[in-house]
Amino acid sequence: MTSVPYVDLVKQNQALRPRILEAIDRVLGHGQFINGPEVGELEEKLARRLGVKQVVGVGSGTSALTLVMRALDIGPGDEVITVSHSYVATATSVCLVGATPVFVDIDPTTGLMDPELLAAAISPRTKALIPVHLGGVPCPMNPIQELCRAHGLHLIEDCAQAVGATLYGRSVGSFGTGCFSLHPLKTLSACGDAGFITTNDQDLAALLRRLRSLGHRDRDHVDVPSENARLDTLQAAILLVKLPHLEEWLVRRRDHASAYETALRPFFELTRITEDAQPAYSTFVIRHDKRDALIAHLASKGFDVKVHYPIAIHQQRAFEGTSAPGLPHTEALVRRIISLPVTPELEPPDRDALIDALIHWSRSNA
Ligand SMILES: Cc1ncc(COP(=O)(O)O)c(C=O)c1O
Repeated sequence: MTSVPYVDLVKQNQALRPRILEAIDRVLGHGQFINGPEVGELEEKLARRLGVKQVVGVGSGTSALTLVMRALDIGPGDEVITVSHSYVATATSVCLVGATPVFVDIDPTTGLMDPELLAAAISPRTKALIPVHLGGVPCPMNPIQELCRAHGLHLIEDCAQAVGATLYGRSVGSFGTGCFSLHPLKTLSACGDAGFITTNDQDLAALLRRLRSLGHRDRDHVDVPSENARLDTLQAAILLVKLPHLEEWLVRRRDHASAYETALRPFFELTRITEDAQPAYSTFVIRHDKRDALIAHLASKGFDVKVHYPIAIHQQRAFEGTSAPGLPHTEALVRRIISLPVTPELEPPDRDALIDALIHWSRSNA
């Protein structure tokens, strides 16, 4: 029987294995496991690739979000507007700094933050907005940026799923302060946890470098109490092997997405892509009212698909009590979405077999 996994992390690293092992060996040779030279080299290369002045490597996407909020002095009593249709870390990080997440609904066509709803959600306590480039699809940043300027709010972009995505010809994370994840399932991935922050503000970058390292200004002086949220030297060394391949991986993701778009549009509702955006496609999402039956059918044929995410953040027990009035589009969408495999390792014949299975099922379930 066919067996098409949603993601194959072993295959992903197989081709680069000798070079990854060499990179690890180099780190073992110099012994600078904390803040080693690979961290700075990766930060410089990422900054050049993404067209930003500063990249600050950190331990995870979650740390990127919490450190940025702490650096911007966001804490107890403050509100941060974001979406409930995201991975839970978006809102968790707001809670971790002691602030309150305020959820706005999504635009049902894009599945992303609806800029039209933002003005009504702003209160005197609002400090920042966190749009999420979910699935590597950029949010419409022009209206969001304008609103932040008009109300004096910080703009923090959750780019965890969007390394390589661009909008208006610019990288996501260059419109505000960008928070990226390099988790193994992301479009550029470490062999473990890692993340980074993008900013054009040199002072903010300097503060973030202190905050990621227990507040240290130098070896003996600590300016602010903080946590350990450093990017591991070993992960940076591995990421330096992978970074030159990002472009070819994005091309393959976009090829899969384009094949799905063309073949499936007559049969399924698809995500509307923001104008002038080039998504990174960490996921490719289709929608159907009989989502669970479709997933079961695909599993019986050997196709593994996922749901990102079946429970909206405000519906999680952890967020019980959070004020989330009226999120009808979010609540409707999480019941209908399915993520299809779209990784660079997916073979086009397997993708095409999945397309055939989807079309066949759709015809018999119309
Ligand atoms: C939208 C979003 N935000 C934040 C994060 C947190 O990133 P990390 O897992 O690297 O902490 C993730 C990771 O899955 C994510 O998908």
